[in-house]
Amino acid sequence: MTTKVRYSYLAEQFADPAPFLDAVKAVVQRGDFTLGEAVARFEQRFAALIGSRHAIGVNSGTDAIKLALKAAGIGPGDEVITAANTFIATIGAIAEFGAVPVLVDCEADRYVMDVAAVEAAITPRTRAIVPVQLTGDMVDMAALMDIAGHHGLAVVEDSCQAIHAAQGGRPAGTWGVAGTFSLHPLKNLNVWGDGGVIVTDDDAVAARLRLLRNHGLAHRDEVALLGYNSRLDTIQAAIGLLMVDDVPASVDGRIANAARYDEALADIPQIRLPRRRADTRQNYHLYMVFAERRDTLVKHLNAHGISAKIHYPVPLYRQPGLAHLGYAAGHFPNSDAQADSVLSLPIDHYLTPAMQQAAIEAIRRFYEAA
Ligand SMILES: Cc1ncc(COP(=O)(O)O)c(C=O)c1O
Repeated sequence: MTTKVRYSYLAEQFADPAPFLDAVKAVVQRGDFTLGEAVARFEQRFAALIGSRHAIGVNSGTDAIKLALKAAGIGPGDEVITAANTFIATIGAIAEFGAVPVLVDCEADRYVMDVAAVEAAITPRTRAIVPVQLTGDMVDMAALMDIAGHHGLAVVEDSCQAIHAAQGGRPAGTWGVAGTFSLHPLKNLNVWGDGGVIVTDDDAVAARLRLLRNHGLAHRDEVALLGYNSRLDTIQAAIGLLMVDDVPASVDGRIANAARYDEALADIPQIRLPRRRADTRQNYHLYMVFAERRDTLVKHLNAHGISAKIHYPVPLYRQPGLAHLGYAAGHFPNSDAQADSVLSLPIDHYLTPAMQQAAIEAIRRFYEAA
């Protein structure tokens, strides 16, 4: 009998929805749907998990980036450097208030942005850097912070994929003026819809963010500044509260699965593992490798009941909707090469040893048959 290997684990995670439905019912009974008590409790637990002074719940990871940049004073015409191979949300968030996204390539042997390329992209108009902790791995943050400090640039971390990752013992999200997280259903800490969190140690930035997410209202009858409606829903906070304390254990499960994949796949010459930094705890939001004949491999795996995905097949700078940024094919050779070879395998902590073994064996058989 062949073992089926699914990618999404939501069915297992919420197989028993009763405790979650009870939490939703409690919100309904309290009626505090906006900025209710669960939001404040969730923010406290989230801040404790990350080790930051403040956590501010907002309505998505995208808005978290947007509002963090706004709170850092970034505005129209300011150049903001970020990764050419990120998810579109990072670039959309930068552009939304009129700032100009400036893209840089990733490292040759990891997906995260190349800090040397960041330095080369700085101009007199550069105001901020948004390092993206893609897959839950981390940019060389000490080097990046040196560059930012030297040039007087704000750093807003896009740690949307990197909850509970760390480098040199310092958590993702805590390096710059603010760190941003997504609670999207496919993230490591996932709610039942959209949600996001901004963390910061800066009291003034935190106060500004609390205003920005709620129309700039200091209280019901006073508008302190022009803001937005970007509150984390109380219902989503109540769902998140039931899972926020489980994040370290679930990340440990992913790390153990990643170690097993790494060991088994290292024997397959057509698979190249990304460089693992000894100083970095990845959260393995995604488990990605570089695979020869990737597209045929993905078809083979899917045909044999093994779900594998590609994050992402076309780098953003070559997307039609971003043509106005002025980049041409070949601008970012590492991002291009990786777009042709990256493969993501299921890595979550619900993955059984049998499922993992089935995925590994299917990859091995594909290359042996070639
Ligand atoms: C790297 C990255 N940045 C930003 C986001 C945006 O998060 P959200 O979907 O919560 O808006 C995501 C996830 O979707 C992401 O993966």
